[in-house]
Amino acid sequence: MVKVLYVCLGNICRSPLGEVTFNALVKERGLEEEFQADSAGTAGYHVGKQADARSQKVAQKHGLTIDHVVRKVSLEDLDEFDHIAVMDEQNFEDLHTMYYEAKGFPPSTDKLFLIRDFDPEVRGVHEVPDPYFEGDKAFEEVFQILQRSNEKLLEHLVDKYEISAPE
Ligand code: 4NP
Repeated sequence: MVKVLYVCLGNICRSPLGEVTFNALVKERGLEEEFQADSAGTAGYHVGKQADARSQKVAQKHGLTIDHVVRKVSLEDLDEFDHIAVMDEQNFEDLHTMYYEAKGFPPSTDKLFLIRDFDPEVRGVHEVPDPYFEGDKAFEEVFQILQRSNEKLLEHLVDKYEISAPE
């Protein structure tokens, strides 16, 4: 089982959408035995809550349900997950520091990366913009970015782990 952890700041807006879109793609392709995603935040402000109502709404609009309780990223996650996909440069910096301090060496680019590195439509900075202070349009944009990026990420992981399509 290959495990992917999506990380943003609050674990209420972006990373639950990363998790749910990845898991839906996995299900569509019949790869549930091979891949699984979860999500967490670098900050603990919203621990124990449900995802932001606007993330839930955009997921539902696309036929998906977010069933996630907000949690903060932990040291155990660094070993538990094969890949950690972050939303922005600040998340990257925070996870990189956490990893370096725990292990004494930096994470590989395969272990820790910006999810938008996989977005075929990205221009400029490879970040998923924080929609927290924005409206529904920003949440739809986040959804589309993550959907596009996750299609490419999943293709990459299927190749990397030489996973063949189910019968
Ligand atoms: P997220 O968005 O990192 O995508 O979950 C945010 C959630 C909460 C806050 C900021 C961004 N906040 O400041 O509480």
